[in-house]
Amino acid sequence: MIREIKDGVLYFDGCNTVELAHKYGTPLYVISQTDITEKFTELKRDFLSKYENTRVAYACKAFCTKGMIKLCQREGMCIDVVSGGELYTAMEAGFPAEQIEFNGNNKLPSEIEMAVDYGIGRIIVDGLQELDIIESICREKGKTVKILYRITPGVKADTHDYIITGKKDSKFGIPLDEHILYPQVERAIKSPYVEFLGFHFHVGSQLFDNSPYLQAVDAVMEHVKAVKEKFGYGVREINLGGGFGVKYTDEERKPYSYFTDPMMKKIKAFCEDIDIPMPAVVIEPGRSIVAEAGLTLYEIGSIKDIPGVRKYVSVDGGMGDNIRPALYQSQYEGIVANKASLDRDDRVTVCGKCCESGDILIKDHMITSKAEAGDIFAIFSTGAYGYSMALNYNRNPIPAVVMVKEGKSEIMVRRQTYADMIAGDIIPKTLI
Ligand SMILES: Cc1ncc(COP(=O)(O)O)c(C=O)c1O
Repeated sequence: MIREIKDGVLYFDGCNTVELAHKYGTPLYVISQTDITEKFTELKRDFLSKYENTRVAYACKAFCTKGMIKLCQREGMCIDVVSGGELYTAMEAGFPAEQIEFNGNNKLPSEIEMAVDYGIGRIIVDGLQELDIIESICREKGKTVKILYRITPGVKADTHDYIITGKKDSKFGIPLDEHILYPQVERAIKSPYVEFLGFHFHVGSQLFDNSPYLQAVDAVMEHVKAVKEKFGYGVREINLGGGFGVKYTDEERKPYSYFTDPMMKKIKAFCEDIDIPMPAVVIEPGRSIVAEAGLTLYEIGSIKDIPGVRKYVSVDGGMGDNIRPALYQSQYEGIVANKASLDRDDRVTVCGKCCESGDILIKDHMITSKAEAGDIFAIFSTGAYGYSMALNYNRNPIPAVVMVKEGKSEIMVRRQTYADMIAGDIIPKTLI
């Protein structure tokens, strides 16, 4: 049990969360190494060892720190980056460039150049102009790079509109229209600067149903067949993206195999049918590896009870360290960590300290009526897209990240200071 209550206090991966809050300060992101490792173990057992020629590329946008990248390396994972900044973090962590894949709908020429210089494993081409940029950079440097095309499979997944990415009306990917896709494929096959491997899709995030994935596999395999027929070219790699759902409140996380087994079966059957060798298959989970491994600790400050209307419990963080409730109306659960055994007999709205009415972390949540200023409030499942989306709105510093494992804790990212925040500020000479 990663989370347990002992003597009225919440413990996380063996650590007393109240002691963590006092030792490292609040707000504080806490990441359980044990939980992350368990997810990697599941992936190794049910995907990597079960099927030959497969890879897992952790989508590090979910939680990107040098320590996390190092953990991926130690566990034999590849990673997926979407910016020069993520790529730089990975390289600074000593991650091998050839095990990195580069996604993104508007990669900057400077980012592509950086990727080519490092000798990146793959670029997932995500638009009709990108190949021009890649070719000209490779031509200039006398290098080649492996590419896949990210396609929009035209499937609609059942999730928040902002995290659907596979429907036709999307900024991501190349539409599956023949007159658009095939000239691109032909060009890539013939290009001396790129090695065309195959196709990539990502249908969306926080998904609990495998049917959109299976529909996307059907769509992509039809194109694998067409590429073979039209160009005599056997696609060598298919990337199925990420998006596997996690538990925030009432959801039930499905095992990876619920998604990957039927997809692998479909791909295999298709390849046998059209008599081509099984391609390499890659998945790119992000959230499902780190979300449940994280929690955020806050200190409760002011409490405002508006009789008959609402009771607001303010904490010392908010949308700056977790923008998801404001951005996607995401739901979370939490508990007063130092009064964890008390009855949850009070309906409150947990809000942050930013100057926005929308800075609400959890609306209408049952907690103990004994909550008061100075208590520690823990919000669960904040490991994904929390720290990685953190911002300095109102010039609140970005919290520290602590990694915990079996009762031990260690700093992973130190708390940002006010001086860090203004380090780039320069007063224009005309104002002095
Ligand atoms: C291309 C791609 N791969 C992987 C992911 C990771 O998705 P998730 O964190 O939901 O697993 C994303 C998320 O946006 C993505 O765009």
